Amino acid sequence: MKVLFVASEAYPLIKTGGLADVAGALPVAMRARGNDVRLMLPAYPKALERARRIETASELGELLGGHRARLLSAAAADSDLELLLLDCPALFARDGGPYTAPSGADWADNHLRFGVLALAAAMVAVGQSGIGWRPDILHANDWQTGLAPAYLRLAGAPNTRSVFTVHNMQFQGRFDAEVLAALELPRLAFTMEGLEFHGQLSMLKAGLAFADRITTVSPTYAREIQTPEFGHGMEGLLAARQRDLVGILNGIDDTLWNPSSDALLPARYDVASLAGKAVCKAALQEELGMAEEPGVPLIAMVGRLTEQKGVDLIAAALGRMLELDTQVAVLGAGDPHWERALTELAVGRDRVAVRIGYDELLAHRMIAGADMFLMPSRFEPCGLTQMYAMRYGTLPIVRRTGGLADTVDEASPADGAATARGTGFLFDAAKPEALLEATRRAVTMYADKPAWRLAQRQAMQQDFSWGRAAEEYGWIYRTLAPHGVAGETKVRWEAA
Ligand code: ADP
Ligand code: GLC
Repeated sequence: MKVLFVASEAYPLIKTGGLADVAGALPVAMRARGNDVRLMLPAYPKALERARRIETASELGELLGGHRARLLSAAAADSDLELLLLDCPALFARDGGPYTAPSGADWADNHLRFGVLALAAAMVAVGQSGIGWRPDILHANDWQTGLAPAYLRLAGAPNTRSVFTVHNMQFQGRFDAEVLAALELPRLAFTMEGLEFHGQLSMLKAGLAFADRITTVSPTYAREIQTPEFGHGMEGLLAARQRDLVGILNGIDDTLWNPSSDALLPARYDVASLAGKAVCKAALQEELGMAEEPGVPLIAMVGRLTEQKGVDLIAAALGRMLELDTQVAVLGAGDPHWERALTELAVGRDRVAVRIGYDELLAHRMIAGADMFLMPSRFEPCGLTQMYAMRYGTLPIVRRTGGLADTVDEASPADGAATARGTGFLFDAAKPEALLEATRRAVTMYADKPAWRLAQRQAMQQDFSWGRAAEEYGWIYRTLAPHGVAGETKVRWEAA
């Protein structure tokens, strides 16, 4: 099967969050299962620096009002995955982030930046890009590529099907209706069943309305987004397309997130011997300027400091968490209000460390060195960090929602260590008291060393491999592709 996977970020070329982890790993896993996959991204300066074997593949001409664009073929930095980089210097050759200027404000021409990306992806999908390759499946991700299935459908392409994966319903890519003309989209597509959302154009909605199949990143989130609480106004459309909607849990990249081979740690460890984890904890306490207290549970949070992630619950519960005789360490960036609030909470408290910023290396050391990992998200489409934490024997304390509900099992030592089960601690109400109560259960179990060790072992042995997810996406592709399976069709297969 030939698959064009298009996204706005992919690790290690460019990353702001979990989407990059997924786009960096899932195409590699799909390729390992025999698919011919190309990963398409904008040619941001950072991506050009990090890619290898860059060559011009084709000229696309002038897109959406004279934006000269071409496709570069390249190889990923650390694998043989084939890349297609969309080179359009007028839109992408800039300092700053993939979505925001150095000031932190969204780029004012994001509709054109991602409009051109989506259009170029659709050109590849219909075989019009001049690279001599056409996919059976166009797989787009999140609002930045939501217009790709729309352009594809509006082109009337008979031979390419589209899949649209939602990683977060909150980010909708909304723009004033006036941009329709600049995006060369027909007025007739600007309806409630199409691109229109509350009088604006929504690129997320474009993907949801026009893709042949919709996926999201956990089964629970797939159900949740059909309700008003999680649907961000698009629950009606999603419920109407229920037959085409499926939740596939993300995996984690074992080559990057693995305590037995992680070169970023001061010591390595595995499920058979956790001695290295104690070394990581002591080193982390020292690095963060905390007392080296091996017996005090160290609770960490790494993530975006936003209300999605429940940062307000952490701030409200922090004082009482410390009364449980714990240390708390936070690494994150996000909402300036919460960055300030957390920084202030750390002042004068030697058992609290707060690091504001984005630091991939420290993230590894924190997840390895901590005993418990906090993720009290209000909603969480999948969540990768709780899975990283489990792989590192750091038991997660999470709210029962989305992918957190699908990946964490309540740990209970009820019948003694021999029958202990579970991998973490869950709570329901988005309230500081509920978070605190789950933390109390975690701290109690931490004192019961054999039970804790057993839960750590179970957490570390969970199968979060990308192979399973790649297999499930493969099923979706096969049920869609009109010609892609021609030479290889079998009516019998081995049961999974
Ligand atoms: P989301 O994509 O909603 O932010 P995920 O859990 O899916 O949440 O993925 C977040 C990714 O970003 C993880 O790889 C996590 O380690 C990383 N991350 C988030 N914040 C930071 C930070 N401040 N420093 C380093 N890595 C971070
Ligand atoms: C989004 C979600 C997160 C998910 C990630 C990758 O950023 O917020 O829950 O893990 O995408 O799919």
